[in-house]
Amino acid sequence: MATRITYPDTVEGIYQLLTERLAGVVPDFELRLKAEIAAEINQLKREKNAIILGHNYMEPCLFHSVPDYTGDSLALSRVAAEADADIVIFCGVRFMAETAKILNPKRKVLLPSAKGGCSLAESITAEDVRHLKEQFPGVPVVTYVNTYADVKAESDFCCTSGNAEQVVLKLMELGHDQIIFLPDEYLAGNVARDTGMHIVFPTKDLKRASELDLPENVQLVMVGWKGRCEVHEQFTVEDIENVRKQFPDVVVLAHPECSPEVVDASDYSGSTTGMIKFVENMEKGRYLLLTECSMGDNIASKNPDREMLRLCSIRCPHMGEITLEETRAALLEERYEVDVEPAIAERARLALDRMIQIG
Ligand code: 13P
Ligand code: SF4
Repeated sequence: MATRITYPDTVEGIYQLLTERLAGVVPDFELRLKAEIAAEINQLKREKNAIILGHNYMEPCLFHSVPDYTGDSLALSRVAAEADADIVIFCGVRFMAETAKILNPKRKVLLPSAKGGCSLAESITAEDVRHLKEQFPGVPVVTYVNTYADVKAESDFCCTSGNAEQVVLKLMELGHDQIIFLPDEYLAGNVARDTGMHIVFPTKDLKRASELDLPENVQLVMVGWKGRCEVHEQFTVEDIENVRKQFPDVVVLAHPECSPEVVDASDYSGSTTGMIKFVENMEKGRYLLLTECSMGDNIASKNPDREMLRLCSIRCPHMGEITLEETRAALLEERYEVDVEPAIAERARLALDRMIQIG
């Protein structure tokens, strides 16, 4: 299990910590205010035997003051699966909190936002997956974790951006030459390119797989879905070219939810934690992050000698709903509890467990 983060017990201690990390970014009076809320949250956690899991996209004051664990979807799923606290608060979006509940149903899982949506999770329904399985009988279904529980329940394997390629390669190793990969069109396109698969997007009225119009000599087929992340779909090759013109030495990092063209024009692509590690393992320098902007703040605050360029007009509104104030309210009122129907959770857990076993 990942290492648990500890924080000073006092308001003054947290204020010092936030000042070290964020003095150049957040005004002092705001840091004092946030330190008071964070200290209250950390006290409530102790009283209620609760832990906080914080996704890498959390805003800097929250990210640096209350999560017991931070990470990408894969790392946080692993922590959630093994958590023995009475309450798990997920500072992320709903599909992440649902995943925690599925993997560890005995815990009370809270999401500090009433909705916590995600355009990818909303792009596909369980009925859509059942229809695809009728069109492609016997073809294994790999579902990105950015989906709701009923969609996961229709799937054979889950994956995250951190292990999507590994999951697909594992299925190929098991002899599958066709894979249904849902619902992110761009993540699928990036994985298909890296694994030598030909990607198709069948129409709803396709009766059977043999009706697909495939180019000659295609051996490996990935069946995709046209879901997109409303944030990452907005980054363009032109954005990268413009930044490179101004800063020729910039190293460009793109999340694999960006289009294959954007990923091709970048220097590195990986999960949110993959991107953080990449920057931390490099020498000081200048980086452009094509992902939710807060992550650039979080990296810069821990690594002041790295210059992080961000395109901050493009934000994830759902991740932005999670604040220290909402997290304190979640703990005080034990809201918003996330529940998954046991029959659905049991089937979804199989797909998640298979993913966790692969890596
Ligand atoms: P990671 O799994 O890379 O943390 O990404 C989650 C996500 O929602 C990216 O937009
Ligand atoms: Fe969903 Fe995109 Fe927001 Fe990630 S950044 S939670 S994929 S909408």
